[in-house]
Amino acid sequence: MTIALLLAATVALVLAIVVGGQRRALRRHVERLQQAEASVAELQLRTERLEAGLSGAGEGLIVLDEQDRIVATNLAAGELARLPAAGCRGRRLADVVPWPPLLAAIERCRRTRDEVAFEFDDTVGNRTLAVRVRALPGPACVVGIDDHSRLKRLESLRRDFVANVSHELKTPLAAIQGFVETVLDDAEMPPATRQRFLERISRQADRLSTLVADLLTLSRLDEPSVAALPPPPCDLVAVVRDIVRDLGPLAERRGLQLLARLPDAVVAVQAEREALRQVGGNLVDNAIKYTPDGGRVTVEVTRQDNRVLLEVADTGIGLSPEDQARVFERFYRVDRARSRDLGGTGLGLSIVKNTVRNLGGDVGVRSALGQGSTFWVALPHAVGAGDGPPAEEP
Ligand SMILES: Nc1ncnc2c1ncn2[C@@H]1O[C@H](COP(=O)(O)OP(=O)(O)O)[C@@H](O)[C@H]1O
Ligand SMILES: [Mg+2]
Repeated sequence: MTIALLLAATVALVLAIVVGGQRRALRRHVERLQQAEASVAELQLRTERLEAGLSGAGEGLIVLDEQDRIVATNLAAGELARLPAAGCRGRRLADVVPWPPLLAAIERCRRTRDEVAFEFDDTVGNRTLAVRVRALPGPACVVGIDDHSRLKRLESLRRDFVANVSHELKTPLAAIQGFVETVLDDAEMPPATRQRFLERISRQADRLSTLVADLLTLSRLDEPSVAALPPPPCDLVAVVRDIVRDLGPLAERRGLQLLARLPDAVVAVQAEREALRQVGGNLVDNAIKYTPDGGRVTVEVTRQDNRVLLEVADTGIGLSPEDQARVFERFYRVDRARSRDLGGTGLGLSIVKNTVRNLGGDVGVRSALGQGSTFWVALPHAVGAGDGPPAEEP
């Protein structure tokens, strides 16, 4: 009996030990599982925080682990590197962004721990991307992607502009040099011939000075306005009346009719008088220059709701649709020789466009080849300026 009891107790003890041990092992297992779960949650939270941190950056960012697997990305990277919309966390970068120079840059950055930067022409997305790979503390690294297309375009525009300016300045300078040398070399030159050469020199010098004045105007227009106060309202009708008066004789000499259709009231625009003169003067000057004898140029000012419309219509040579799209570009001239003969610089319409843009307005052209053109400018009507009767002439 005692043996039986002892046996039973021993079995119970062994059972207790075994079950208890299993329980402990089980408990340990569960604890480990809970720890692992917490780590995963923590990791997830950290990744989300990382992505939230990256999302504010304008630059596209991709964080990689030591095996080049994507840890986190931001919205800009998704767009610039065209990452799959379904997400790519955990995938190898090479499978998602197959740009050969990028993989080489990552490899180099890992080796040297120096930042590696390069420019990449993404032909599919049709843009130029600036890519930088930087090492992070530990084995991770980050890829930064910036869209440099706009910068590249601006850079190339600037280069073209400098080349154009140099060329435009060189032409009259070379002519002046040539004429001066001819006069100097020929001591016996008859006075009448000498006079002719001097007149040519004077014309070329005028051309140079017009060109420089136009370039200065353009560069002033490019600077952001530093004026503390907006200019007082100016009456566009009075400005147009002055322009028509000043350019009337030129139109007459060319056998053109210059007409003004102006309202009997003040039409106020918030702009410097000189700026409005530049805009209207350039458009009327062009209309006169590019309209053959017997034609007509009409200048009109109208009010449309809260806008003021200035239209200069001519019955001249007109512009093809391709030229209409380009005439506001600097130095663009449909017929270079003709423009030069007429004393043009090819900068008038770009001055008009930049001035109007600075005044918060729009500019455009409607035209048909051989039938004439209508250049129009829409400007905001000066706020709080009630249109009244015309101002007294000083
Ligand atoms: N009213 C117009 N009719 C036809 N062509 C025009 C007219 N105005 C401008 N153009 C074209 O646009 C070009 C650019 O004009 P602009 O910038 O004023 O330069 P410019 O008059 O000095 O040549 C001109 O050379 C001309 O070819
Ligand atoms: Mg012009």
